[in-house]
Amino acid sequence: MTKKVILTGIRANNQLHIGNYFGALLPIVDMAKQHGGEYQVNLFMPDLHSFTTPIDHSQLKEQILSSIRTFVAAGLPIDNPDVHIYRQSYVPAHSELTVILNCFTGMGEMERMTQYKDKSSQLSGDRVSVGLFDYPVLMACDVLLYGSEYVPVGDDQSQHIEFMRDIAERMNTKFNQELFKLPLEVKKQHEFFGKDQGLRIKDLIDPSKKMSKSDESERGIIFLTDEPAVAAKKIMGATTDSVGEINLDYAKQPGISNLLQILALFTAKSLDDVVIEYQEQTSYGDLKKAVAEATEAFLTQFQTNYDQVDMNAVEAKLTASEAQMNEIANKTLHKVQKAIGLR
Ligand code: TRP
Repeated sequence: MTKKVILTGIRANNQLHIGNYFGALLPIVDMAKQHGGEYQVNLFMPDLHSFTTPIDHSQLKEQILSSIRTFVAAGLPIDNPDVHIYRQSYVPAHSELTVILNCFTGMGEMERMTQYKDKSSQLSGDRVSVGLFDYPVLMACDVLLYGSEYVPVGDDQSQHIEFMRDIAERMNTKFNQELFKLPLEVKKQHEFFGKDQGLRIKDLIDPSKKMSKSDESERGIIFLTDEPAVAAKKIMGATTDSVGEINLDYAKQPGISNLLQILALFTAKSLDDVVIEYQEQTSYGDLKKAVAEATEAFLTQFQTNYDQVDMNAVEAKLTASEAQMNEIANKTLHKVQKAIGLR
């Protein structure tokens, strides 16, 4: 019965843009399509991770459902019985196990986490929450409860994967039984999923930076919810250069290269083909017009798909997955509770 488990968490509390779509969302959807069946694929919303740094709570519930809806609009196969989609807070074993594993985790271990150091340094004193500090323990529980072996995440999460392996091994050794299966080491994760292909859509106004929600100016970002005509205007206003040639050269012509990349993604052509098509041309205006049209077409199609998602089917899928996940997670939790003397 037991299929190997691939698990990944998808953060929900952001307004999604095309950089998220092509860099994170679509790869996950493709992974679920490709491996669901041979593997058990767990995709979950780490909703309890949403407020480790301050957020607008009045939006959270809607944002979570809207994120799930976006995945389904992008083609997530919710009718596949081996693909599970669930919200972390609907499986209380995540929090319960976190309280337990906290007592087997060292302060020093958490203090060394680079993501914690980065994020906490951007916040002033008492806005750095214990939850932010403790984030890797909750993340370890997300993975260990299900015996997950494959955990596709970005490079910024490597240290967290190493921690999961450490805490799992520590518990197995201390209590002299296989309480947890160890996720594979980071190197093996990369062998399985292919290392990040370096797809980075850049900001339209400042193409030296990647497109990112944390930027103050939204003129450089195409959101999935943008009015298609407004998005087209953002493309027309994109920063280019004065070279007067169209080349794929991220160092010398970052703006033009970014537009070529976006055009390739929106028209589902290879980047090579797009470069060949435009290389001989000199008019930036024609390229921009083509990208603007492709952007409008993409967003119009995507937003139609989004509107057509059957939210009753999505709710039913969540309910079914959450029931199944509670069963699996509670078994692991119970094993741990017995081992440590609570049961
Ligand atoms: N920390 C991940 C991120 O920032 C999200 C996440 C939470 C996650 N729990 C997880 C990813 C468990 C994989 C497995 O992207």
